Amino acid sequence: MAKVIQPFDPKDVVAHPEAYFRRAYVWQVPVRITHWVSALCVTVLFLTGLYIASPILAPSGEPAHHFVMGRIRQIHFAAGIIFVISFLVRIYWFWAGNNYARSGFPFVWRASWWRDLFRQATDYLRLERGHVHLGHNALGGSAYTFFVIFLGWVQIFTGLALYSETNPAGILNKLFGWVIPLLGNSYRTHMIHHLVAWAFPIFALLHIYIVTYDSTQYGNGLITSIISGYKFYRQGDIRNDEWLS
Ligand code: HEM
Ligand code: HEM
Repeated sequence: MAKVIQPFDPKDVVAHPEAYFRRAYVWQVPVRITHWVSALCVTVLFLTGLYIASPILAPSGEPAHHFVMGRIRQIHFAAGIIFVISFLVRIYWFWAGNNYARSGFPFVWRASWWRDLFRQATDYLRLERGHVHLGHNALGGSAYTFFVIFLGWVQIFTGLALYSETNPAGILNKLFGWVIPLLGNSYRTHMIHHLVAWAFPIFALLHIYIVTYDSTQYGNGLITSIISGYKFYRQGDIRNDEWLS
């Protein structure tokens, strides 16, 4: 698309509103902060988790002195707790925030949501600009709900249950200890926590690819929006958020 810079002409804006982009504040501060905190935590959790499962360093001497595994586990648990806090803040903001804090929710009982899901999938297949949303589209929202919310809960419950094993008389064991017998035993809980961990880099790869694709296709500042909060839209784009209300 050719980029021509021309002097601002208010009369032309009134005559051809469809040719101009407007700016809207979409992602509020808690959405942006929890996004980057979770992205960072998930990266740290995945890398430290892989080390816990398969320690590649072989330091000599007493483990209590070099404390390599101990330190990696500490980092994993600290990132785990920060991830849980960020998760809870984001859930709170689902109710407290603007409409776009809720736009990713799968409204499966609304026909308009299913239409949006189908339309978004066909837009991608045709490689067309298609329908542009200010908030999340139905397909993106479903991916966040399954990969980050649902599997995030699985990691939080299994992770806290495994963590609680260090103190069987503690409060954490009372709150999350039941997960271990539910899944069979400690080994199976480790296995599920480990298997589900791989969903996160798969999601991150697809997610970064799709937001880069969308940002280029829509020309709406999507990537910078998750830093600044602002997105750009043209006449017609905003209508596609009607299924939200
Ligand atoms: C360079 C890395 C990343 C970039 C540029 C990026 C960019 C974005 C953008 C632009 C959105 C809004 C998209 C929309 O309209 O739906 C978004 C949403 C989201 N991203 Fe990322 N992202 C990155 C990494 C990650 C990672 C690693 C995760 C988690 C594993 C993640 C999880 C999410 C979630 C859950 C949302 C929905 C936000 C909400 O409603 O709270 N992102 N991201
Ligand atoms: C996206 C989130 C997470 C990912 C990707 C992740 C990844 C992993 C992986 C790959 C392992 C090794 C499992 C094994 O083979 O035994 C592990 C272990 C573990 N994780 Fe996570 N984890 C996450 C969240 C959490 C959370 C929220 C907690 C809660 C504190 C947690 C606590 C633990 C514990 C206690 C272990 C076992 C450590 C050990 O046996 O020494 N994880 N994690």
